[in-house]
Amino acid sequence: MPRQLAELAIEREESRVTLHSLTSITLGVPDVEAVCGYYEEFGLTPSGSLSDGRRRFATVEGGEQLTVAHAPQRRLLEIGVGADDLDDLDRIASNLATLGGEFKRSTEELVAHDPHSEIRVSIKIAPRIVQSPAKAVPMNGPGRPDRANGRAPAIERTNKVRPRRLGHVVVGSLNQEASQEFFTRGIGFKVTDQVPSLASFMRCSTDHHNLLLQQAPLNFLHHTAWEVDDVDEVGRGASAMLEEHPERHVWGLGRHHIGSNFFWYLKDPAGNFSEYYADLDCVLDDQLWKPSVVDGARGLYNWGPPPPPSFIRPDDLAALMTGAHAPR
Ligand SMILES: [Fe+2]
Repeated sequence: MPRQLAELAIEREESRVTLHSLTSITLGVPDVEAVCGYYEEFGLTPSGSLSDGRRRFATVEGGEQLTVAHAPQRRLLEIGVGADDLDDLDRIASNLATLGGEFKRSTEELVAHDPHSEIRVSIKIAPRIVQSPAKAVPMNGPGRPDRANGRAPAIERTNKVRPRRLGHVVVGSLNQEASQEFFTRGIGFKVTDQVPSLASFMRCSTDHHNLLLQQAPLNFLHHTAWEVDDVDEVGRGASAMLEEHPERHVWGLGRHHIGSNFFWYLKDPAGNFSEYYADLDCVLDDQLWKPSVVDGARGLYNWGPPPPPSFIRPDDLAALMTGAHAPR
């Protein structure tokens, strides 16, 4: 088939794939114990160990969304994506076959491997995550005393911050363009916004992004992001994590321009960044969202402290590149 016709056929198939969530991630780290302790403190709930030593953690509403496994150096081993029915897996198989991608198909799962970012993707039939609505918090504004005669409820909160669910992962890819093609044309992700020649924000749900691919000198995991109720929970969660470990601080508090979310980034013992976030843009109707191309500093943030150089280029990148990374 001529290339143009093949492309049209792929696009038709791609548009019919209905993905609904980023269900899980598997992190590979040198020191499983230390990393597990960190994510428990971060607010995830230990939910068991597998016979091969992998450890699992649950969020409040997303179920078991984090698996921590042993690996010689830190890396993202797998992401899980939820689809509605078996027809979706058939369509993904067809798209990947047309692209020449490798995959394995069983009755209820399709496992594919992106050779460019080296990420394994497991697509399974899964129930949609149902979230209970966060309570609307009244806020005073000039000439608008919506919370008259009372203190802000947020300052009275004493409960531990626990992420509602996994939101997104950000990875560096040696070939961002090729990885983007794998995830869009192959798996069925949609591009929400782009930074030219550098990054693509893609979604497999109504979230602004579930996967951000950025061009990098090596394939590596930049950060994982976990949703909390609001900006106060972002601040409370990060403050609690930093109380006895100020060295965990990476960047925050701030607000991104692309995606609009409040953020605070921390660092786990293996060197992976983990983000508490709130108020991310969501795309309920594809027709109403206008993808944009964002350039310059806005590609990174709207307001907040200047990002440290180690956020752009994590301190351990050189070590990861030589494979000499050691746990800290
Ligand atoms: Fe993020």
